[in-house]
Amino acid sequence: MTRLNQQWILKKRPVGNIQNSDLELREFELPELEEGQTLIKTLYIAMDPATRGWISDGGYMEPLPLNTPVLGVIIGEVIDSRNERIAVGTFVAGVGEWGKYMVAGPQQISFDRTGEAGTLAPMDTSSGHELPMYLHALGTSGGTAWYGLMEVAAMQAGDRVLVSGAAGSCGSLVCQFARLNGASKVVGIAGGADKCAELVDLFGCDASIDYRATDNLSAAIAAEFPEGLDVYFDNVGGPTLEAAMDNLAKDARIAICGMISQYNATDPAPGPGNMWNLLVNTARVQGFLVSDYFGTPGCERAYTRIEEWLSAGELNARLDIRDDFAHIVDVYNLLFSGGNRGRLVVKVPHDN
Ligand SMILES: NC(=O)c1ccc[n+]([C@@H]2O[C@H](COP(=O)([O-])OP(=O)(O)OC[C@H]3O[C@@H](n4cnc5c(N)ncnc54)[C@H](OP(=O)(O)O)[C@@H]3O)[C@@H](O)[C@H]2O)c1
Repeated sequence: MTRLNQQWILKKRPVGNIQNSDLELREFELPELEEGQTLIKTLYIAMDPATRGWISDGGYMEPLPLNTPVLGVIIGEVIDSRNERIAVGTFVAGVGEWGKYMVAGPQQISFDRTGEAGTLAPMDTSSGHELPMYLHALGTSGGTAWYGLMEVAAMQAGDRVLVSGAAGSCGSLVCQFARLNGASKVVGIAGGADKCAELVDLFGCDASIDYRATDNLSAAIAAEFPEGLDVYFDNVGGPTLEAAMDNLAKDARIAICGMISQYNATDPAPGPGNMWNLLVNTARVQGFLVSDYFGTPGCERAYTRIEEWLSAGELNARLDIRDDFAHIVDVYNLLFSGGNRGRLVVKVPHDN
């Protein structure tokens, strides 16, 4: 039976926000599988800020070639297989194509959170949570929040913790992990009064700061942390990072998770002007990539803990699922306008 695929192809490198004209929806007949390949019916595509870097020059990996499918983190079901390790009917997750189907070789969709790096492996869905949750708390966002907070920032009970991008997918988990691990104070920074109220009502913060409503973020942070902050989890970069660095306690730790304020920048962004504060406060700043932790011994322990909190109803992991594959660029850009409420995911439509 011939089957048609639709894939979003990168036509041009975006300048600023991705435009519809930068991508093209290409339709074509799926080829017969070759030995070792599987056919994956893509069910969900996570909208990851990282994709913006992958399609540009100057990111942390070789830029995606033009005229190839855009990549993101996906969940799919294997519907045909010539790979003896992957049976029809299994679910897989990892870096895959923005499309309705994907033909995957044994080394594609390369990471599963606990799997062998670079090998297509079945997902363990035994926790019984809905599949898209494996893109959120039980997937990359959960691992990012956990490792950034607990390993990179080495959060300890009693720490005073500041989180930017706090109402988003990773950020909202970081706030709650800090609360659940005994932080003495958790403050989230987000855009808008509604999100700021949710930080306190839903995501375990003691207080919140609306960065859009303040003209002096540094002073707003100082008001919440008169004795300085111990941990800053940075999703945003730019002036937000600088404002946090104005307010460090002795031996503070900063985890650089992301710099979303700069991903669409057309000019190089200036660095913080207050690096001296790191010296004065004997503070540490460290970036990290969650993919470096997948498959490590601690990884399954971290997800076991997250899963326990989730099942006990102690963790609010909000999914924002959109049924709009045909307008994927518009959905994607919600990440940059702040239009998403939780892990932003596109549900891929299928007739059968
Ligand atoms: N290091 C890693 O391995 C790793 C892995 C995954 C994600 N990340 C990073 O984690 C961060 C969050 O990703 P996510 O997937 O959880 O997305 P998300 O936080 O769910 O969504 C992005 C949010 O960023 C905020 N934002 C956008 N532009 C901004 C700006 N100019 N200034 C301040 N805030 C802005 C918006 O919230 P507001 O409405 O509050 O502005 C938006 O809702 C990103 O920087 C991403 O690159 C890193």
